Amino acid sequence: MSSQLTLTTTVKLPSSHDMQVLGYGVYQTPADVCESVVLHALNTGYRHIDSARVYRNEKPCADAMRASGLKREDIFFTSKIGPRDMGYDKAKKAIEASFAETGLDYADLFLIHAPYGGKTARCGTWQALVEAQKAGRIRSIGISNYGVHHLQELKEFIETSEVGGKIDVGQWELHPWLPRHDIVKWARENNVVVQAWSPLVRAERAHEAVLQEIGAKHGKTWAQVLIRWSLQQGFVPLPKSVTPKRIEDNADVFDFELDTEDMKRLDFPDSYAPCSWDPTVSRD
Ligand SMILES: NC(=O)c1ccc[n+]([C@@H]2O[C@H](COP(=O)([O-])OP(=O)(O)OC[C@H]3O[C@@H](n4cnc5c(N)ncnc54)[C@H](OP(=O)(O)O)[C@@H]3O)[C@@H](O)[C@H]2O)c1
Repeated sequence: MSSQLTLTTTVKLPSSHDMQVLGYGVYQTPADVCESVVLHALNTGYRHIDSARVYRNEKPCADAMRASGLKREDIFFTSKIGPRDMGYDKAKKAIEASFAETGLDYADLFLIHAPYGGKTARCGTWQALVEAQKAGRIRSIGISNYGVHHLQELKEFIETSEVGGKIDVGQWELHPWLPRHDIVKWARENNVVVQAWSPLVRAERAHEAVLQEIGAKHGKTWAQVLIRWSLQQGFVPLPKSVTPKRIEDNADVFDFELDTEDMKRLDFPDSYAPCSWDPTVSRD
């Protein structure tokens, strides 16, 4: 299937909306360069932008979307409710603040950024998302960095409360050194589409021999190998770069395919090596 993917291939979410299978991340992209790099990404052909309240760059993302001249419905824009805005009232305010800042009529996806704050806050935040979805402000909703115990808690809340809703998307740090088989299995069994953050392991593994060798075999870079690995796992990778040539290279991953041997070489089933925060293990 993956050899048939292109930059504009989409996956259907439970909400019935479509999401492009390769996203462009803007974590740590300073607000003053964000508009120009997002515009470069859109000009390169990306149609899926991953931002968050805490990145403080939702507005320049929206400015780039408007400046691109593309139709709003052709771009998929994600934001996230941050840990400090957990709970029903704060989450509602955060959603409204996002729209006030961006000037967008709707968001394609809003995620709960992390499962912090306790059960009441998590469920209240979910309720705020469901209400915004019902009001037509947010098209699809989901979570990020939830462990299986958090996912199970949310599933039970959805099934037993009046609030309801469906988890369209889950976003986690995922790459060969952090395959998270338990979480991915849960997501698959519950029809949750999986996004991969830090798909490039923040360039920390660039010199790994296995990436260099597979890259040389296909005439591709280590970064392209990692993005391809993510796509072939059925994930939606969200590579970030502020460097125009890298933005282009990271999208140039649809003319080759990792073979069974390559995928086997990148299979480290017992590896658990996060390169950043790991809220999945939070127990509060
Ligand atoms: N939900 C969450 O908790 C969470 C957490 C982290 C990230 N995310 C999302 O996932 C996105 C990606 O994750 P990330 O930003 O942590 O890490 P990443 O995409 O794995 O790596 C980004 C780093 O790799 C460098 N890079 C990118 N392309 C390269 C290339 N072709 N060759 C060499 N170096 C390259 C970038 O440098 P330059 O920018 O200098 O080019 C940057 O330093 C974020 O932007 C954000 O949207 C979500």
